[in-house]
Amino acid sequence: TYIVNDACIACKYTDCVEVCPVDCFYEGENMLVIHPDECIDCGVCEPECPAEAILPDTEPDAEKWVEFNRKYAEIWPVIITKVDQLPDAEARDGESGKLEKYFS
Ligand code: SF4
Ligand code: F3S
Repeated sequence: TYIVNDACIACKYTDCVEVCPVDCFYEGENMLVIHPDECIDCGVCEPECPAEAILPDTEPDAEKWVEFNRKYAEIWPVIITKVDQLPDAEARDGESGKLEKYFS
């Protein structure tokens, strides 16, 4: 599977949803997640994310993000169409510690 990590938080560009062939992105207030059981590992979303928030679960550190993505994918609604990025997306892009600072 692929996962969305904290680089998405407070940016939420949503370019990723446009390309996913199986519509497995789910939308929270300030980030998206991927449902790990629905993702078919095609990889097309990874290069589309301006914040570089999408990675394969083969990356170091990915396991906690797989569980995080699964948890919220089961609570949040599916998103299948691109929407406007969050207002401070460019200012927040690349900032560290976003999970602690902004996740809601
Ligand atoms: Fe969707 Fe493919 Fe990205 Fe998985 S890797 S979330 S199936 S676009
Ligand atoms: Fe987030 Fe990147 Fe998609 S910022 S909403 S994972 S395009």
